Amino acid sequence: MHKMTEQFLREAFAGESQAHMKYTIFADQAAREGLPNLSRLFTAIAFAERVHAENHYRALGGLGSQGDNIQTCIDGETYEIEEMYPVFHAAAKLQDEAEAARSTHYALEAERIHADMYKKAKSVADGGKDLEIGTIQICSVCGHTREGEAPEKCPICGAGREKFVQF
Ligand SMILES: [Fe+2]
Ligand SMILES: [Fe+2]
Repeated sequence: MHKMTEQFLREAFAGESQAHMKYTIFADQAAREGLPNLSRLFTAIAFAERVHAENHYRALGGLGSQGDNIQTCIDGETYEIEEMYPVFHAAAKLQDEAEAARSTHYALEAERIHADMYKKAKSVADGGKDLEIGTIQICSVCGHTREGEAPEKCPICGAGREKFVQF
């Protein structure tokens, strides 16, 4: 692919991905504020942006085997753990940005677990098998991730069991 086209597709993928995420978050807020139709509009257009993002990602050749896809995840999470979030978190603290310091701390803690989960998944997927994995619990406050039962209290942010979402 021509370098320029590739760069434009990467930017389009990033932009559509962010639009998808923002609209999804706006949809939740609208639903909480008792505006179901506005929420539905945000949700529907978020889905269209996801379609655009996926098409751009496919055009970039981003999809591979299961093992390739998991490796992409491992690489991303590892970069976040080793470089991105430690630096972002340090900068937020240096600048007395409490909320940014908290959000980067929450993300860093969860990404460590994600990287481990993906590493375990990769060895199974490389063998051509599906995972044997139980219920996955996500803290809706901080993103803490674990397999099995939700804890009484989130070990990262202290949220109660009822804040966990199951997958
Ligand atoms: Fe992650
Ligand atoms: Fe949490």
